[in-house]
Amino acid sequence: MKILHLDKNHPLLFEQLSQLGFQNDEDYTSSKEEVEAKINNYEGIVIRSRFDIDKTFLDAAKNLKFIARVGAGLESIDVEYAESKNITLIAAPEGNRNAVGEHALGMLLLLFNNLKQADSELKQGLWNREANRGTELDGKTVGIIGYGNMGKAFAKKLRGFEVEVLCYDIKENVGDQNAKQVTLEELQEKTDVLSLHIPWTEATDKMVNASFISKFKKPFWLLNTARGKCVVTTDLVQALKSGKILGAGLDVLEYEKGSFESLFTGNDLPEALQELMKMDNVLLSPHIAGWTVESKEKLAQVIVDKIKQLYGFGDDEKKILPPKEYGVSGLGGFFFKTKDPDHIKAWYKEHLGMNTDQYGWTFWWKDKEGNDCSTQWSPFKEDTNYFAPSEKPYMMNLRVKDLHKLLNQLKEEGVTVVGEVEEFSYGKFGWILDPEGNKLELWEPNDRAFL
Ligand SMILES: NC(=O)c1ccc[n+]([C@@H]2O[C@H](COP(=O)([O-])OP(=O)(O)OC[C@H]3O[C@@H](n4cnc5c(N)ncnc54)[C@H](O)[C@@H]3O)[C@@H](O)[C@H]2O)c1
Repeated sequence: MKILHLDKNHPLLFEQLSQLGFQNDEDYTSSKEEVEAKINNYEGIVIRSRFDIDKTFLDAAKNLKFIARVGAGLESIDVEYAESKNITLIAAPEGNRNAVGEHALGMLLLLFNNLKQADSELKQGLWNREANRGTELDGKTVGIIGYGNMGKAFAKKLRGFEVEVLCYDIKENVGDQNAKQVTLEELQEKTDVLSLHIPWTEATDKMVNASFISKFKKPFWLLNTARGKCVVTTDLVQALKSGKILGAGLDVLEYEKGSFESLFTGNDLPEALQELMKMDNVLLSPHIAGWTVESKEKLAQVIVDKIKQLYGFGDDEKKILPPKEYGVSGLGGFFFKTKDPDHIKAWYKEHLGMNTDQYGWTFWWKDKEGNDCSTQWSPFKEDTNYFAPSEKPYMMNLRVKDLHKLLNQLKEEGVTVVGEVEEFSYGKFGWILDPEGNKLELWEPNDRAFL
C-alpha cells in the first residue's frame, strides 16, 4: 500500500504509517500536473492545501482509496466526485479545534482590553490609561454561526465567562449545554460578539455583507477564524467606520490564497485591507488559529488513527470504537416517581394486565442472537433520591455491552460520570448525566439472574 505525502507534516505520520506497513513517499515540490502523472501508483494521499483536488486529478488517480487532509475543511477537494469514485475522505478537525477555540478567545480578550493598542503605545513611551479603558465580556451575548467542531470548541472555552452563548446552524438540534441554538434572526437581535465557524460554501460565500450586518440590532464585534471569503471586507470596513461593527479579529482574509500559504497574488494591497491595517480596533493574524505546536501533532495523530480505522488495524484502547461494540444495545428500563408505587402497580395490573412484582414489571424479549433479554418498568416512591442529581421524576436505564469500556470512553469525552460502578447478580451499573442533567443508568445486564 503506497501513500504519497504532498505536504510536510509532523514526523509521526511517516513513522506510524511506516510501522503499520505502508510505503510512504514524499513530494513537496512537484506541480499538480507532475503529481497527476504518477498518482495512479498510489492508494492514499496526505495533503494540507497545496493544490485543489479536482476532477482531473481524481480521474488520474485510478487506484486512490483515500485522501487525508491534515486540517479541518475539505473545500479544496471535489468531495462529491471523490465520493462517487468510492474514495474515502479523511479530515482532522479534532486535531485543531482546541487551537481555534483558544485563538478566537485570545482575539476577543485582546480586542476587549485594547491590549494591542496599549502595548504598542507603551513601547513608544505613552502611558494612556483612559484611552485604553477595556470592555468586559461579563453579561454579553456571543453568537456563533456554524456550530460544528470549531464553533463548539470556542463555546467550550467561553464556559466560566458569564456570557450567554447562542448558536445558529443549518443543521437542527446541534445546540448543547454550552450554546443555545436559535434562529438567525434571534442571533442577530441579541448578539454582542459574532464568531464565524462555518465552512466556505456557496451559501456562506460573502455571507457577512452590508445587508447581513445591518440586520444586527446592536453594534457588535466580529471574529472570523473560519474562511476569509465568508466576509465582504469592503462592507466590514464601512461597518467599522460607521461604528456598527465595534472591532474585528480576523485570522482569515478574503485576499489570502487558496493554499493559505500567502496573502494574495497581486502587486498592490487591496484598499480595504490597507484600511483594516490602519485600524486600532482590528486584529489580524495570518491563518494561524488552528496552527499550534500541539495541533501539528494532534492533526497528524488523528490522520493516522483514521487511516488505521479505515484499514481495520487493532483495537487500540484509546481509539473511539463504533459504540455497537460495547455501547447501548437496548432500553434496560424505565423508572419513574409516583406517590404510591403499590397503588400504581395494582392499577397497571388491573387495567393493562401488567404482571407486576416487587420491582415493577419485567418485559422479556430476545435479541438477534436469540438470547433472553429483559427491560424493567419500575415505579419509585416520589421521595427517592435515586435519580439525583437530576430533579426529573424519571430515569432511563440503558442496556450496554461493556460498561467499563463505555465509561472509560465517556470519561475521555468529558461526560459527567456519577458515582462508582456497582455490581449485583443481575449485572453491573454505572451512571452518567446527559447535557440537560438527566441521569442515565447504564446496565451491563445478567438477564439470567431474573429467570
Ligand atoms: N483559521 C484556522 O486555522 C482554521 C482551523 C480549522 C478550521 N477552520 C475553519 O473553520 C470552519 C469550521 O470548521 P469545522 O471543522 O468546525 O466544520 P464543521 O463541519 O465541523 O462545522 C461547521 C458547521 O457549520 C454549519 N453550516 C454550514 N453551512 C452553514 C450555513 N450556511 N449557515 C449556518 N451554519 C452552517 C454546518 O452545519 C456545521 O455544523 C471551516 O471554515 C474551517 O475551514 C479554520
